[in-house]
Amino acid sequence: MIAPSVLASDFANLQREVEMLNASEADWIHVDIMDGVFVPNISFGLPVTEAIKRHAKKPLDVHLMIVQPERYVEAFFKAGAEVISVHIEACSHLHRNIQQIKQLGIRAGVAVNPHTAVSQLSDIIQDLDVVCLMSVNPGFGGQKFIERTYAKVSELKELILRNKSKALIEIDGGVNLQNAKPLIDAGADVLVAGNFVFSAADPIATIKSLKNL
Ligand code: DX5
Ligand code: ZN
Repeated sequence: MIAPSVLASDFANLQREVEMLNASEADWIHVDIMDGVFVPNISFGLPVTEAIKRHAKKPLDVHLMIVQPERYVEAFFKAGAEVISVHIEACSHLHRNIQQIKQLGIRAGVAVNPHTAVSQLSDIIQDLDVVCLMSVNPGFGGQKFIERTYAKVSELKELILRNKSKALIEIDGGVNLQNAKPLIDAGADVLVAGNFVFSAADPIATIKSLKNL
């Protein structure tokens, strides 16, 4: 699956950008929420997410890069999220946070920073619908893909199979046509792509080329 990140879109033309994604082969619309505390950048919040939802014909995949995400999970659900991922590094009570999301009847995900070992997920993997492996340090679009991610995808795939988990493996950061195929071969299910899609001369064709790998 392909989940273009609207972080890289033209915010002054958000309706047009979302309509482009509706017309494309994108599966999910990835929505990056940054609080300026968990990550050193602020993106946008609830009103913009609601505005995206008003035009979106695809599920919103909300990536919360915020501290104390439990304070906002319900609000993002009401704003239209169908997948919500919280960061393992931001949660002291991850099991509770995941149950909170699942009780809303939507998919629950955990995002892990590049320095976080996949093995830290071993006691929660059976409860997860999505694991979002960060292939850059979160906070900014357009960064360089970290090569170590390939090995982490393989380790995570093993952990998922060993525990008979249904979790999808999502890769977020620096995805392009060079790394997409090896990521899929290693076990990735969902590829997030920001700049690679939105900076392309033809975003719809770019999404198609990622989709057809
Ligand atoms: C990074 C965000 C990513 C980002 C991906 O903090 O979580 O979703 O938008 O953008 P690219 O594909 O440009 O790295
Ligand atoms: Zn993201």
